[in-house]
Amino acid sequence: MNVLVAGGTGTLGRHVVMLLRQSGHRARILSRQPRGHVDAVQGDLKTGTGLSKAVVGMDAVVHAATGARQSLSSRAVDVNGTRRLLNAAREAHVKHVVYISIVGVDKSTYPYHRTKLKAEAIMRQDLVPWSILRATQFHNRMETLLGGFTRLPGVTAIPFAWRFQPVEAQEVARRVVDVVLRDPAGMLPDFGGPEVRDFKGIAESWLEARRLNRRLVNLALPFKFSRQFSEGMLTCPDHKDGKITFDQYLQEKYAQ
Ligand SMILES: NC(=O)c1ccc[n+]([C@@H]2O[C@H](COP(=O)([O-])OP(=O)(O)OC[C@H]3O[C@@H](n4cnc5c(N)ncnc54)[C@H](OP(=O)(O)O)[C@@H]3O)[C@@H](O)[C@H]2O)c1
Repeated sequence: MNVLVAGGTGTLGRHVVMLLRQSGHRARILSRQPRGHVDAVQGDLKTGTGLSKAVVGMDAVVHAATGARQSLSSRAVDVNGTRRLLNAAREAHVKHVVYISIVGVDKSTYPYHRTKLKAEAIMRQDLVPWSILRATQFHNRMETLLGGFTRLPGVTAIPFAWRFQPVEAQEVARRVVDVVLRDPAGMLPDFGGPEVRDFKGIAESWLEARRLNRRLVNLALPFKFSRQFSEGMLTCPDHKDGKITFDQYLQEKYAQ
């Protein structure tokens, strides 16, 4: 099968590309800066450049691109970019688009999650037959989040009660590949990691693995989404699909 992977240079997408190629399929990458990547087309979801060229000859698209790291562009990439990509895919008679979303976006009031829900709504317009897979936070995303709360000297201040179900991106990628090689399935069951943990415990594991001697402080955030995260809105305890725990991920990454 010929599959375009939008976001094929990202955390999830690069595993999707590797797994597709390992199983004998063609994976073409869409990237803003494709230099150094094999079978990659230069394109930008924010402007629409390169999208028509990228989808030509493709049977399916995995849409794992996001502007999450460029907070000001998130809407332009995730919402309008999704519409642009679907329009291009429709023109090229692509038969299946798989969109990667996040567990809980239908209820969360966190701004990025609302953006993802809008992108899901565009997928549901049936421009191209679709599947949507919602996953929980990837292990490396937990680290980025913790890094963001570790800016003050000697202190990591986090909302202790937030609950997460971290998952290994490669395990999500395996599921994505399985999905894209089948018929469009609409909304799929959530995909979560093996454990639901509070942020305090996650932070303790992380500080220990990195041998960082920092004091953990409970941070109260006066936002509705903060309460929602504490209530477990980002978790799916009935779907503990991943096998690799956050502690195993840390062990693999930091143990010498
Ligand atoms: N991270 C998580 O914990 C998590 C959890 C659940 C679901 N998800 C979802 O899974 C998907 C992948 O997440 P990720 O963490 O793997 O993302 P990531 O590592 O931040 O990678 C983002 C990808 O998007 C591409 N991209 C960004 N702006 C673009 C633009 N304007 N035009 C074209 N491509 C653009 C980047 O490609 P170039 O830089 O090469 O252009 C990159 O490959 C996202 O939809 C995310 O919402 C993530």
